Amino acid sequence: MRVEDFILKNYNSGIESGSVKWESPSNIALVKYWGKKENQIPENPSISFTLSNCKTITELTFTKKQNKEFSFDVYFEGDKNEAFKPKIQTFFERIEAYIPFLRDYHFKIETSNTFPHSSGIASSASGMSALSLCLMSIERLLSEEKVSNEVFNQKASFLARLGSGSACRSIEGELVIWGENESFPDSSDLYGVKYAGDIHPNFKNYQDTILLVDKGEKQVSSTVGHKLMYGHPFAKQRFTQAHDNLGKLKTILASGNLDEFIKIVESEALTLHAMMMTSMPYFILMKPNTLQIINKIWAYREKTNSKICFTLDAGANVHVLYPEVEKENILEFINNELVSYCENGHYICDQIGFGANQIEI
Ligand code: DP6
Repeated sequence: MRVEDFILKNYNSGIESGSVKWESPSNIALVKYWGKKENQIPENPSISFTLSNCKTITELTFTKKQNKEFSFDVYFEGDKNEAFKPKIQTFFERIEAYIPFLRDYHFKIETSNTFPHSSGIASSASGMSALSLCLMSIERLLSEEKVSNEVFNQKASFLARLGSGSACRSIEGELVIWGENESFPDSSDLYGVKYAGDIHPNFKNYQDTILLVDKGEKQVSSTVGHKLMYGHPFAKQRFTQAHDNLGKLKTILASGNLDEFIKIVESEALTLHAMMMTSMPYFILMKPNTLQIINKIWAYREKTNSKICFTLDAGANVHVLYPEVEKENILEFINNELVSYCENGHYICDQIGFGANQIEI
């Protein structure tokens, strides 16, 4: 698909009003997206596990209006929210070429998350994907041509990317690739594609327990963060490394080799943070407790031969990844040895999921 193919051409704007609702999950990258070009095009390919429990639920109500200005209200967890509006305004401006009916309707956006707002968990992936899916459902209602599920998901991912890059990986599950890579001929810079390679049973229901080390606002927004890769002295090598790691993961996901999986995933997390430490300006987003947890995980792995590992986003929280067969033992380890490093002892249990769902209303 090319960019032009995503422009909706024929639609029936005679429909006066309606409501649609979607729930869409967060995702956790194994190979990280860090660095982007114009128009939300990634500098390197990434791959993520779609999550199951950490979700945004969004209802979008549309009502025909006369003027041609963008018009929308946002309600977050029941209350009118002005703080989210600028990001949504920017999103609408970026997508209006593809969704021409955006100016025909007033939109009421009612949204909530299944995870606490102040948990340090970014809601942009789940939030932007849920909103994009709602817009696609409206497109389907207005469209004069039949929209297949494949085109629906592809365009939802395309739109979500324009809201927040990683959001394009939240439409489907269990693994999604975004960004062109030679090992995956169907991969695209424009949208995420469901991982179509073999996935070994070792990865079935893979667990992600998110240790909330720091529930505060992010110290570096992702927009600022990605810009740090412009002119970064190690950028070129990093982008090449992401391509290589994705190619290696293809073999690992098929063979179920968890030792090799751990090497790639942990190295990717540390490289992401290394990029931040070596940019100008430079940042340390890990906290002392992040390092304590990493060292405890390594010691536990050494001692028990467990296949536990960690990954990080652009923050201090730690995602603890492990096979489902180890769930009981690892939750015991987390409760005994890691909980004390979490803010107020909080953590969230999640696992690999299958993507977004429409909710009947
Ligand atoms: C570190 O998708 O939040 O989580 O495109 O500016 O919205 P924007 O960035 P965003 O960046 C996520 C970066 C990351 C790694 C990843 O999810 O791949």
